[in-house]
Amino acid sequence: MTVIRGATTIPSDTPEEIRKAVKELLEQIESRNDLKRDEIVSLVFSSTSDIHSYYPAKAAREAGFASCSLFSAQEPEIDGGLPLCIRAMLFVGKNSDPKHVYLRGAKILRKDIAGKINIAIDGPAGSGKSTIAEMLARDYNILHLDTGAMYRACAYKADVEDEAAIVDLMKDVKLDVVFESGAQKTLLDGVDVSEDIRKPAVSMAASAVSKHPSVRMHMTEKQREIAGKMSCVLDGRDIGTFVLPEADFKFFLTASPRVRAKRRYDELVQKGYEVDFDELLTEIVRRDEQDSTRALAPLKRADDAVEIDTSDKSIEEVLSEVKKHIQENI
Ligand code: DC
Repeated sequence: MTVIRGATTIPSDTPEEIRKAVKELLEQIESRNDLKRDEIVSLVFSSTSDIHSYYPAKAAREAGFASCSLFSAQEPEIDGGLPLCIRAMLFVGKNSDPKHVYLRGAKILRKDIAGKINIAIDGPAGSGKSTIAEMLARDYNILHLDTGAMYRACAYKADVEDEAAIVDLMKDVKLDVVFESGAQKTLLDGVDVSEDIRKPAVSMAASAVSKHPSVRMHMTEKQREIAGKMSCVLDGRDIGTFVLPEADFKFFLTASPRVRAKRRYDELVQKGYEVDFDELLTEIVRRDEQDSTRALAPLKRADDAVEIDTSDKSIEEVLSEVKKHIQENI
């Protein structure tokens, strides 16, 4: 006896989508495992509790899987679980090495089987990209690389206008990005500067330092190296256009300058900083200008990025839009 696992997702809860997804999943399992239909003894399905409109077992029977015993059940609602997901378990009457099959959004469930994915989230300061990148990475259990933190760390140490001195500094000072329990820590010469680089004064300096081509190339190389090795969500300004033009998914988040300044204001006040809203607004507009007019890899939406204006949306709404797009297109 061999037991084969599989899972897939549907874009919406309709009988038609369930029939299509179940047929596709079973046919893929069959072909990847070189199965004959009458070798399948039993087929068990479970679907997440947001699926109501049809029985996967019935869809399987209609797709021609009728000679085995069929069963479907509903899973409990789990916070953070992959939505609209159908899981299958096939019991096969011969002994072989099972090839499990994960399709569509369910690829996220088994990255070891389905392969690496890179998701690029770009946008100006305060557009919500770091928050969304972090939540997405947590939900998918993949890495979040905050590329802004790398420029911030560089600016924290350097005289931002002196490109030659920065290049020397980058040779002498070791910039490391390490991940502990999925969270990024930025280290300079082994010292954790993750909190210090968030200080308001570092923001403008990071933007200034990031215009130097040699700095950008150095950071880009590090970012490509990390993304080449593992699945991750990268947030920045130039991920979709320059760092990873071949990223599997690209999003570009925007929001009006006032909304972005207000978000930054609330965040800093909560951290105990004394800040002036109008100054923050002016700084955000200046930083946008500086980031989008530099010669190499400016802040810009990639032609194939999905743009989301987050001005009037909650974090949950943006996250669900991003996940829906990924699920429908994976
Ligand atoms: O995302 P952030 O606010 O932490 O980024 C700080 C600055 O770093 C930003 O104003 C421009 C620069 N940056 C960049 O040029 N490219 C990136 N991929 C990320 C950040």
